[in-house]
Amino acid sequence: MQILEPCTFVIFGATGHLSRNKLMPALYHLEAEHQIPDGSFILSLGRSEWNSETWRQEVRNLIADKVRGGIDNEVYDRFASRLRYMQGDLNDDALYSNIKTTLESDNNYSANAAFYMALRPEEFGMVIQKLGESGLTNDSHGWRRVVIEKPFGSDLESAQILQRKLHRYLREDQVYRIDHYLGKGTVQNILVFRFANVMLEPLWNRNYIDHVQITHSETAGIESRAHYYDSAGALRDMVQSHLLQLLTLVAMEPPASMDAEALRDEKVKVLKSIRPISQSAVRAMSFRAQYSSGMVNGQKVNSYLEEKGVAPNSTTETYSAHKFYIDNWRWRDVPFFLRTGKRLAQTQSAISIRFKHPPQHLFRNTVVDRLKPDWILLGIQPQECVRIELQVKEPGLTMMPRSISLDASFSGNESNEKLDAYESLLLDIIEGDQSLYLRYDEVEWAWRVVDPILRVWATDRDYIHTYAAGTWGPQETRKLFVREDQFWRHSLSPNGDGD
Ligand code: BG6
Repeated sequence: MQILEPCTFVIFGATGHLSRNKLMPALYHLEAEHQIPDGSFILSLGRSEWNSETWRQEVRNLIADKVRGGIDNEVYDRFASRLRYMQGDLNDDALYSNIKTTLESDNNYSANAAFYMALRPEEFGMVIQKLGESGLTNDSHGWRRVVIEKPFGSDLESAQILQRKLHRYLREDQVYRIDHYLGKGTVQNILVFRFANVMLEPLWNRNYIDHVQITHSETAGIESRAHYYDSAGALRDMVQSHLLQLLTLVAMEPPASMDAEALRDEKVKVLKSIRPISQSAVRAMSFRAQYSSGMVNGQKVNSYLEEKGVAPNSTTETYSAHKFYIDNWRWRDVPFFLRTGKRLAQTQSAISIRFKHPPQHLFRNTVVDRLKPDWILLGIQPQECVRIELQVKEPGLTMMPRSISLDASFSGNESNEKLDAYESLLLDIIEGDQSLYLRYDEVEWAWRVVDPILRVWATDRDYIHTYAAGTWGPQETRKLFVREDQFWRHSLSPNGDGD
């Protein structure tokens, strides 16, 4: 087992939404699992006038209902002894020199530090510049890593500008660009499922696969994030990052090894092979819409335009659906359909892979008029599952087929199944493992894929389709499908709705 060196997590924006909801609970869980090296500290930075003692109390309150099994006093005491609070303004050089003094002159602190940007995207560049200018990114005495949340830029050009800035102060091996989907158990399982099972590989290509669907749906609206969301929209928020990452894992070639570079090389190849969408093709290949009011879980909910902080005439999309083609030997002409939306009928993320019909229509003269296709279904959340849907004969005298589902879901240690993505990702930072983080070229190529769509949508601001909250979104997305018998699959159960 690797012995980890102590380090300091310096969290910018520690009092914000991400830190409260994800980082603090994840760090607490790592503490409970004894995964945080002895001698490590968590230095939280914020504007509020707290001190370390009041901050410890605050953190206890805010994670109380977010940690598995409730707070364990002994674990919390250990965790709290690592928590330090530093008040300061991001724009103020004094903050950076205080951090430097703390890290470099106080012997209690290790010289290894991870700077976590739990900030608004527009603040990333400025903070990195200040970290660099104050010498905090210099790793001559201990490692220095910077963790950047998505979105990395808001389009291709801004991502390139941000990267140039970063590059001035940091080497690529110091930069951890997070896409928290890569920390999810089933997402990592895609690689094992594909590359540890020899029977799948011969089928995993254009000869047998009809199409692939990747869905992330949420019943939640935009909550208190109008400031960010109204300028981002679903395409930037989910498709450019999480959904394209899922697509790369489904479509990539086997990497030479599981090391970070080999894995990321293969993902980039997929992104580079996605057929560019010309501006005139955007309407045929993409669809956007916005939720109107409706019912979610029996409650009436507001339309997007009625959400607090949303511009009254906003045409920002809360639903984004796309068809992509990957022009390589394996996938040429197999459509990949991606969709995401807020205020949809269910909260779920899943990958559904549909196989072609058998080439010979053997059952033509029986009651089996049209056989249902086979599917492989990978449930990411809330249900983590791997299923294969096949056709069998219904018991009885007639030749009646029925879809059955072979469930290969992992059902081991319950607590493992509920690990939050941030736990494994934070541990990777301490371990210096970048395989589940995005290399810059992945981000850049993902922007190249969506940039033409962003451009057309940005100029097309007069009208946007709507869908009632609590539904599966607009029927007009049918136009993305290639044939009549293709449509979104909503359910992971056989004979579920959708197909
Ligand atoms: C975030 C998006 O990156 O991912 C959110 O900004 C979205 O809008 C979230 O709700 C979904 O993540 P998860 O882990 O809840 O599926």
